[in-house]
Amino acid sequence: MNKIAEEINKYPQDYWDFKGITKSGIHNIGKYPATMVPDMQYQLLSVISKHLNNKNISLLDPFCGSGTTLVIAQELGINSVGIDINPYATLLSFVKTHQYNRADVCDAISTIKNNLEQESNFPIYDFVNIKKWFRDDIIKSLSQIRHCILLEKNQDIRKFFWICLSEVIFKFSNDRTSTFKLHVLPKEKIDLIEDRCIEYFIKIVNDNSAHLNYSNITSSNIICGDSNSTMKYKLKDEFNIICTSPPYGDNPTTVTYGQSSILFLKWIDNVDLSCSQELLKKYTTIDKISIGGEKRNIINTKNIKSLNEFLNKISLKKQSKVINFFEDYYVVLKSMRQCLSKNGYLIMTVGNRSVDAVRQPLDNITIEILEGLGLKMVSKFNRNILYKNSPLKLSLLKDKKTIKTIQKETIIIFTK
Ligand SMILES: C[S@@+](CC[C@H](N)C(=O)[O-])C[C@H]1O[C@@H](n2cnc3c(N)ncnc32)[C@H](O)[C@@H]1O
Repeated sequence: MNKIAEEINKYPQDYWDFKGITKSGIHNIGKYPATMVPDMQYQLLSVISKHLNNKNISLLDPFCGSGTTLVIAQELGINSVGIDINPYATLLSFVKTHQYNRADVCDAISTIKNNLEQESNFPIYDFVNIKKWFRDDIIKSLSQIRHCILLEKNQDIRKFFWICLSEVIFKFSNDRTSTFKLHVLPKEKIDLIEDRCIEYFIKIVNDNSAHLNYSNITSSNIICGDSNSTMKYKLKDEFNIICTSPPYGDNPTTVTYGQSSILFLKWIDNVDLSCSQELLKKYTTIDKISIGGEKRNIINTKNIKSLNEFLNKISLKKQSKVINFFEDYYVVLKSMRQCLSKNGYLIMTVGNRSVDAVRQPLDNITIEILEGLGLKMVSKFNRNILYKNSPLKLSLLKDKKTIKTIQKETIIIFTK
């Protein structure tokens, strides 16, 4: 048995569930769906880096989301690159991994507190449909915070403030927070919202600033864009670890990462976002351009047995969406293989969602594709997803039929 598999098998089966351990510190900053378990990433990356003799390790996460893996890589002294198509995800990953100067952050916080008390002359911010998502008094308070953030000259600190503002928006908007799709709250609930935006913003700024990175020196390069084209055309070096958790299906029918961030993105000044304004015009664009969002013909995945068996069990209508996803998934796995150095390791965390009440075997499909591309599987194990806040436990069916939601995820390790 491979040494890595041996080491992983030493742990009892339930070890990887990390029962009783919740996210803390920097991992709690911002609001992002389906984040990874930091302790698991720490353990996995420690095992793998040990086998690579802890030397010259470079890591790539092509679906970095909120940056959990990048933060852990940094803790372990590993330089990393993170890619995500969602500009809120890359902003959050940047803030979580950037090395800040403590004195500068303290000064900026006292300045913004003063400004929030003194600045009474500020423009009321506006965008299409703003009144659907925010009450008038909330718009006024958020406009005041936005104005004061813009007075900050240091862009890296402004980025931190935008992340704090996103937590305020999450709490005080008219959007129901129980799902990641945008849904307006009923009027009686909107009426009950108490405008404590400024007070809450100051609290979040104080709390979050305590967790910023003031000392880690390994770098993390965060790129906002499509992971396949970024890996193909922008990355020059190979990586000896690729560690990621991809989406488990197309965003609109699985987790709407784009919609969950769009209200935050609408308030953030474009100079501090690395994306075009076009991306933010419609609430659905980010999800549409994400993996599986475009129409594809079945070409690369035609002969994937586990995929074909699954397709035969679901309706024709759903089949086409699944094919769109797996065609994109295939090309992204191919690019990942190309970016992996010889003897390097690829760690994939995947979950099997249901389509038409049939489990989509993303674990087996991933194995079949990657083995077909010449990678060798060294270890595979399951873990239970214990915490209720996992979005994968929410049924996304329109008719509200209960379906078995994802309760387990699979970790698969390959080598080249
Ligand atoms: C399961 S999440 C990653 C969660 C992450 N591991 C964390 O701990 O936050 C998958 C991510 O893939 C991103 N994504 C979807 N399609 C993409 C694409 N074509 N290129 C880059 N990122 C994409 C989504 O925006 C989402 O953040």
